[in-house]
Amino acid sequence: MDTDLDPILTRETARRRTFAIISHPDAGKTTLTEKLLLYSGLLRTAGMVKNRKGGKLATSDWMTMEQERGISITSSAMQFEYHGHVINVLDTPGHQDFSADTYRTLTAADCAIMVLDAAKGVETQTRKLFAVCKLRGIPVLTFINKLDLPSRSPLELMAEVEEVLGIAASAINWPVGSGREFVGVADRAAKDLVLFEKTSVGGAQRASMQRLPLASPEAQAAIPEDLRRQLAEDLEMLEIAGNPFSREAFLGSRITPVFFGSALTNFGIEPFFDAFVELAPAPSSREVVTTTGSESMDPIAAPFSAYVFKIQANMNPKHRDQMAFIRICSGRFERDLVVKHVRAGQVLREVRLSRPQTLVARDRNTLDEAFPGDVVGLINAGFAIGDTLAVKGGFEHQALPQFPPEHFARIEPSDLTKRKGFDKGMETLAGEGAVQVLRSYDNPIANPFIAAVGRLQFEVLQFRLKDEWNVETTLTPLPYACSGWLHGDIETFKPTPGAQVAKDARGRIVVLFPSEWDRQYCLRQNPEHQLLDFA
Ligand code: G4P
Repeated sequence: MDTDLDPILTRETARRRTFAIISHPDAGKTTLTEKLLLYSGLLRTAGMVKNRKGGKLATSDWMTMEQERGISITSSAMQFEYHGHVINVLDTPGHQDFSADTYRTLTAADCAIMVLDAAKGVETQTRKLFAVCKLRGIPVLTFINKLDLPSRSPLELMAEVEEVLGIAASAINWPVGSGREFVGVADRAAKDLVLFEKTSVGGAQRASMQRLPLASPEAQAAIPEDLRRQLAEDLEMLEIAGNPFSREAFLGSRITPVFFGSALTNFGIEPFFDAFVELAPAPSSREVVTTTGSESMDPIAAPFSAYVFKIQANMNPKHRDQMAFIRICSGRFERDLVVKHVRAGQVLREVRLSRPQTLVARDRNTLDEAFPGDVVGLINAGFAIGDTLAVKGGFEHQALPQFPPEHFARIEPSDLTKRKGFDKGMETLAGEGAVQVLRSYDNPIANPFIAAVGRLQFEVLQFRLKDEWNVETTLTPLPYACSGWLHGDIETFKPTPGAQVAKDARGRIVVLFPSEWDRQYCLRQNPEHQLLDFA
């Protein structure tokens, strides 16, 4: 063992768990996050995260609203302690805020929790986010939520995860009943029955929990006859036909451990969180790109390095500043550290990181040190998404993938004399990753068009062009609904009617289609070519 390693860095890295929650809107991501805060002791009563009466606030609301905001809104990541571990929850905006940021944030996570609604199973947004986890080799834990409501059969849900997402599922626990009859879960490894009891309306307080050996007379007496029989049958079936869990297969993204529960009533929450901190990986080595190829960089042995995964402007209208969020990949971060700022293989400059901040709820705290896995907000001075910051030069963190846009539009300054400001604003905003800028392949000098993962990105773009560059714009939506990066020879590619061939900012060919049907048709007409979801 290397005795030169910084013992504090070693300990702090080992106790970090940095993750994101992936789910379809309404599956229970906010509720589960809130319960993590409740069980970690950060909230004394749950029910504070969202503005319940007025519904959920969206990230975009910072643009116009100054009112009280919830934790998931202003923060890019939340940090708190749970049972001796330091938890970093990355915010992955959903709902109408679903955007390239949502995807990019995932790249900063060491693992993900996938929340499914037990009545609905795997839904579209979950599927899209899961695809990024697969691409980046991010291990995924599955939490099947809302068992307190009428649910689909747990076996059917497990099968759906395997079929739709293409990953083996292994049940760590198993629900006893569902809907009103949901009383607890069976812990398969310990052969225990874990029974819950509601202690408050809406799960504002922890649920009381009782653990009994499954075979004990008390456990058998605690559940009605029909549920007992069903449970015995299911558990036997899982033993014979289920996938045995292996942590190695989980870390290698070949298997997802599955947990059942109800975030609202707190049933199954504590066992899930306890298993999560044990199973989830601490920050580990990352592949970096060097001048000669690539190498694996150890989070503890290597000096400080990080990359920018998100840039957000005007979070506080009073400050009018921009924050660049970095994910620390290696080494200890200290305030006033001087680092190399690297982009596309070039050291742009040396920069002092003088006003680092963490975000907890709506308060910004200046921070003195941070460790691998942590997210730090920097007042943005010239950073762009994907940039590397490192004490030692000679490498950069892997480029962030581009994500499949689903919304397309043409944008122009309403007043043509404002062209210069418009071009400048567009260049900055495209650099931030706010939208992708595409040009027609056949007519590259025509006005470019813009593409985004979520429609709201267009509104944010127009708002910021007006607010920061004083340029009013006209936006004309284009009739495309999906796209793919072309893999294969452009010379032999035959675009089908309605398809538009374009080039992205990095010169790669993208093909846009009016519908998924058109995309599939085009693929059939071009069997030698592929259309990739990520570039
Ligand atoms: P999201 O962040 O994934 O979009 O979901 P969120 O947690 O906001 O949950 C969506 C709705 O589902 C909320 O109800 C929430 O209370 C409810 N919910 C979450 N987990 C459970 C659960 O385990 N059981 C049940 N029965 N409901 C659950 P809402 O009516 O939209 O909002 P609210 O008025 O209750 O806040």
